Amino acid sequence: MVENATVKEYPNTYRFSIEEPEKFWGKLAEENLEWYKKWDKVLDDSNKPFYKWFVGAKTNIIHNAIDRHLKTINRNKVAFIWEGEPGDVRSFSYNAVNREVTKMANIIASMGVSKGDIVTIYMPQIPELIFSMLACAKIGAAHSVVYAGFSSTALADRINDASSKLLITADGGFRRGKIVDLKSIANEAVEKSPSIEKCIVVKRTGQDVKMEVERDFWYHNLCEEPFVNNKCPTVEMDAEDMLFILYTSGTTGKPKGVIHTHGGYSLYTSTVLRMVFDLKPIDRWWCLADPGWITGHSFIVYAPLILGATTLLYEGAPTYPNPDRVWSMVDKYGINVFYTSPTAIRGFMRFGNSWVKQHDLSSLRLLGTVGEPINPAAWEWYHRVIGQEKCPIMDTWWQTETGGFMISPYPITPLKPGSATLPLFGIDADVVDEEGNSTAPGEEGILVIKKPWPGMARTIYKDDDRYKQVYWSKFEKQGWYLAGDSARRDEEGYFWVIARLDDVIKVSGYRLGTAEIESALVSFPKVAEAAVIALPHDIKGNAIHAFCILNEGTEVTTTLEKEIKDHVRHEMGPIAVPEKVNFVLSLPKTRSGKIMRRVLKAKAQGLDPGDLSTIED
Ligand code: WTA
Repeated sequence: MVENATVKEYPNTYRFSIEEPEKFWGKLAEENLEWYKKWDKVLDDSNKPFYKWFVGAKTNIIHNAIDRHLKTINRNKVAFIWEGEPGDVRSFSYNAVNREVTKMANIIASMGVSKGDIVTIYMPQIPELIFSMLACAKIGAAHSVVYAGFSSTALADRINDASSKLLITADGGFRRGKIVDLKSIANEAVEKSPSIEKCIVVKRTGQDVKMEVERDFWYHNLCEEPFVNNKCPTVEMDAEDMLFILYTSGTTGKPKGVIHTHGGYSLYTSTVLRMVFDLKPIDRWWCLADPGWITGHSFIVYAPLILGATTLLYEGAPTYPNPDRVWSMVDKYGINVFYTSPTAIRGFMRFGNSWVKQHDLSSLRLLGTVGEPINPAAWEWYHRVIGQEKCPIMDTWWQTETGGFMISPYPITPLKPGSATLPLFGIDADVVDEEGNSTAPGEEGILVIKKPWPGMARTIYKDDDRYKQVYWSKFEKQGWYLAGDSARRDEEGYFWVIARLDDVIKVSGYRLGTAEIESALVSFPKVAEAAVIALPHDIKGNAIHAFCILNEGTEVTTTLEKEIKDHVRHEMGPIAVPEKVNFVLSLPKTRSGKIMRRVLKAKAQGLDPGDLSTIED
């Protein structure tokens, strides 16, 4: 019933999923996943907002992602095809993935890691990144993947918050024809991370790197040890046991460690991927994202494996060495379903259609986007030039905290460019005003989710209070989840997500907190105070603009802007570098000292700054 819903059946199935969530999710869990032991209760809401799903069940995501395929014809089918930026290719059947993950799991366990520990992973986009994640899960350890574009400070902060004993990294990776020297960054981070005892280093580029005796071990040397080929049982976990932490930006300073679990996350991510992209074992799926972000966790690593699909993973820059790199790979590997971000689409668009036309893209049947609202021009281009007017575009709205897609079309849903359309089954989404009343059609409001769902984050690592405060305090009385986005619904109930309501900005689809960037700016010795805002950018969607007050007596030299940018690059990483640094004498603040970013933004765009009654000066 659920799997073959037609447009006409959508309202009924949707109503059933909202009114009977335990029946709805229980049935899907039974039909689509294997469990070591079934649950006693599908949903435990006795301690809101700390919901528990599939209470009492025993599972491990690896059982559904790998182990069960080994008993079927999927055993010998290709799970991953990986292409390096220089053009080297490796591919792995489900059986081979199991072999590689087993090796890695034995090695991780030999380093003293066991159930409940958190391993930090800082890797380029190579197969060993995926094997490390899966290996942690297999032995019941949680992983914390730190995006390889982050700096040593950002990496150290995340290692320290998780108190990891083990770091898995590589000598480097290839990006735009250059080597990214990850090992030096990792070394610098480990200096500041006292919890790290050991470091596994995968050889990717072969350049010389500094290895610390007794701490750093080459992965290929460890693989020579006879024990690595021993059988490694998949550890039985409670459905609610932690699968991973993923740090993401929020309103206040420190990134938050969002937690997902083995049970609910397995079900949710695989269900939405199957339903939204109709993904089946015969499909070749390409999610052009970095495994270091939630999109990669859910839709490169876990959900496609659970569904038994074939996934493509690519190491490098999407327009290197030529703007048609991606289209040549769609053609070469016969990709059926392609998923990327509006920023990437705009990046491809600017090179024109002739780069696309050189390739046969007829294998494509569905397209998708994620990360920010897609502008009509990019949608049209994606539809016409890439999808050749025959591929529906699944515009998926979701978040690190939601685990998987939340508001999105199904392939049968009539589309409207720029709208993520309707809530998926089981998702009770609405747009409300400050008091919690649903807004009228066309009226902007606050996006909320009114009922729990299995893929929801369980908490923020070591900070239950912050979890409650950030997501559940605004509509505490009603018990609704605050997504942090503004949106409107149209006459037909379609959702149009507008922007973030908080101090989170999306730059090229990457989620960054203004507070983190500001703290990087003020850690530069000449900067006394700083504020950052996002201004519209043709390709990136938004670009960071910084406003800095310099210390008394500091001279604005011709190189100062560059020095500050370099400092931010070093503190946070290239994605956080401001487009422009402006030097100012004061910043607009409220009387309580909060920077009024909306005033800065309006001024920068030559717009009316609106109500200034609360401004201090
Ligand atoms: C934004 C990424 C409009 C939104 C999976 C959300 C979107 C934030 C869309 C989460 C979309 C994501 N349309 N906006 N289809 N998808 N967003 O945690 O602001 O990196 O709150 O997760 O991205 O970003 P995150």
